[in-house]
Amino acid sequence: MYIDTHCHISKDDYDNIDLVIKDNIDAGVNIMIVSGCEEKTISEAIDLSKEYDSIYVTIGYHPDQVGVVIDENIDRLKELLKTPKVVGVGEIGLDYHYGKDDRDKQIELFEKQLMIAEEVNLPVVIHSRDATEDTINILKKYKVKGIMHCFSGSVETAKIYVSMGYLLGIGGVVTFKNSNLYKVVEEVGLSSILLETDAPYLAPAPYRGELNSSKYIPIIAKKIAEILNVPIENVGQVTSENAIRLFDLQ
Ligand code: NI
Repeated sequence: MYIDTHCHISKDDYDNIDLVIKDNIDAGVNIMIVSGCEEKTISEAIDLSKEYDSIYVTIGYHPDQVGVVIDENIDRLKELLKTPKVVGVGEIGLDYHYGKDDRDKQIELFEKQLMIAEEVNLPVVIHSRDATEDTINILKKYKVKGIMHCFSGSVETAKIYVSMGYLLGIGGVVTFKNSNLYKVVEEVGLSSILLETDAPYLAPAPYRGELNSSKYIPIIAKKIAEILNVPIENVGQVTSENAIRLFDLQ
């Protein structure tokens, strides 16, 4: 069995969610952790978790919501984190890819949510893009555990996060021809890895550029099995155990 620890499932992207979830389960992906990271998708994700046994949820404001989120949203987030099957805070973090004029505000939003995660004792799902140094320095201030979502950094950076107790979310990027992520997988091993698709984005090869779905998790697992020279069943088992432990899944 596999767990997709990070995906987005929304009616905006899929015509028939029933069918998508059925396909995922048929592919051996028994649990999907859906990330709601703006006001609308937070509500949608929680609704899905009520409708489907196989869906758990993490909620938090993505850094691209920095101009939108007001105090009321943060208060609501805090309330919603008490909902059954909401198992983490995220994705939250820093994204410096599109310029730097809102960095201070991103940091403020990030830290507010880290404080909440610490308070409610839930793991965090971290989005960090072109912001490694700030992300590391900020995370060091909070007693939280979590996952570096869609990790694609260097071996050095991977080692730092692992030493801080973070797990690395490995997704479709590991299957891309030009990716150096295999070096990270070799270095940290299965004990520090979680599987994720980030669907509907980042479909693995040979579906790169197409609509992604959790049903492609076994493709990612197969690649990791090849890199580490272990049976694919081990990849499924160990990464599932890692996810169950981190998110305290029942
Ligand atoms: Ni995502």
